[in-house]
Amino acid sequence: MFRQEAAKLFIKGTLHDNSSESTLLIGNKTSESSATQHKVLGGFVINAWAEQVDRMTNFRVPYIDLKAEFSELKDGLIDDLVTVGENARLILRQEVQQLETTAAEYLGVEHAVGVGSGTDALMLALKALGIGSGDEVITVAHTFVATIAAIANVGAIPVLIDIQDDFNIDSTLLEEAITSATRAVMVVHMNGRCCEMKPIRELCERYGLELVEDAAQAFGSRYSGQAAGSLGAFGCFSFHPMKILHCFGDGGLVTTNDAGLADTVRMLRNHGQRTKDEIIMYGVNSRLDNLQAAFLLRSIARLDGEIERRREIASRYHHGLEGMAGVDCPEMDGDGHFDVFSSYVIRSRKRDHLSCQLRAKGIEVFSHWPVPNHHQPALGLTNFKLPVTEKMSKEVLSLPVHGQLSNDQVDYVIEAIRDGD
Ligand SMILES: Cc1ncc(COP(=O)(O)O)c(C=O)c1O
Repeated sequence: MFRQEAAKLFIKGTLHDNSSESTLLIGNKTSESSATQHKVLGGFVINAWAEQVDRMTNFRVPYIDLKAEFSELKDGLIDDLVTVGENARLILRQEVQQLETTAAEYLGVEHAVGVGSGTDALMLALKALGIGSGDEVITVAHTFVATIAAIANVGAIPVLIDIQDDFNIDSTLLEEAITSATRAVMVVHMNGRCCEMKPIRELCERYGLELVEDAAQAFGSRYSGQAAGSLGAFGCFSFHPMKILHCFGDGGLVTTNDAGLADTVRMLRNHGQRTKDEIIMYGVNSRLDNLQAAFLLRSIARLDGEIERRREIASRYHHGLEGMAGVDCPEMDGDGHFDVFSSYVIRSRKRDHLSCQLRAKGIEVFSHWPVPNHHQPALGLTNFKLPVTEKMSKEVLSLPVHGQLSNDQVDYVIEAIRDGD
């Protein structure tokens, strides 16, 4: 019933929800009032608004299409369910071990440890390195809050620096942020593109700092021929459903080339148990389950195809939008990069207006992130001044990019952006 109502309103062109604090508008009527409202409310309203619309509409071009992906994988996944169920080995058993071996081989690292989420991967990596109270960890504000929360949640102090045009950490700002309390640098490989690791690695080495990669968005991306997750002391991955390699729920992975550190993470993820009866440290429950691991094994087998398709879509967007005034497309490859486009993020001076227009045409887009983390008062980081991050937060718009997208859908998005005013 609700669905039908929403569809009717969507087709009619406008939908107003006057009951909420802000008036929400969708539809092909890109009226003065809609544009003004979004100018006033800025990015704050966009994602909340997007979530409401999501619940009400089927998009002609969905941001991701988990249902379509599920139907492609369904028969295999049912087999997995039966195998795991019949074996009744549910957590940290055969499929998890197989996934760890397969992922380590894929990434070219010695060790991979399955954990409960990308957030846990980051926290356990920091804990394994002994980073805690009073230690400073340098990272960026232009990231999902989990990066910064992981630092704060082990008792360390997040120190935020600015980013460059490719949305990754600006390595030229790193040295001046180092103090006597700095223990680590946590780089974030944003949108499936690795950071400029050469100067960062050199600085870390020179100052004796640990290097942790938040590779949650970067499974399969490469820098100078090396995979994200193999470039620091630890690589940390998320298998959240929005990620390029994902499971059907939450999951994560920690990678390292150090056997001792890998053992520590293995113990930390399982309450510090070395054996069932020997506890050698305080840990947490962050165990990956066998069903998720089995699902991931199916997805990792298809990952190269998924990456290839995303790169094709990225090129198509790039050529379709090239030369358009007021819209900037992301870089692709160059300087030793191999980008996997876990997101395809454009920049537009009229982002909020464009976002409204695209959604009105049934194209699901998001802004990651309209409110930078250092502008979230609850995090206590408002002392940082990050002009590039702040500018990006007003301009970024993530377009649909995934293996289930057809060329016709991509062309429809390009046309809608070109037709925008
Ligand atoms: C850059 C980044 N870091 C960390 C995370 C946290 O991963 P998870 O949601 O699996 O805890 C995410 C996931 O959204 C992310 O995008």
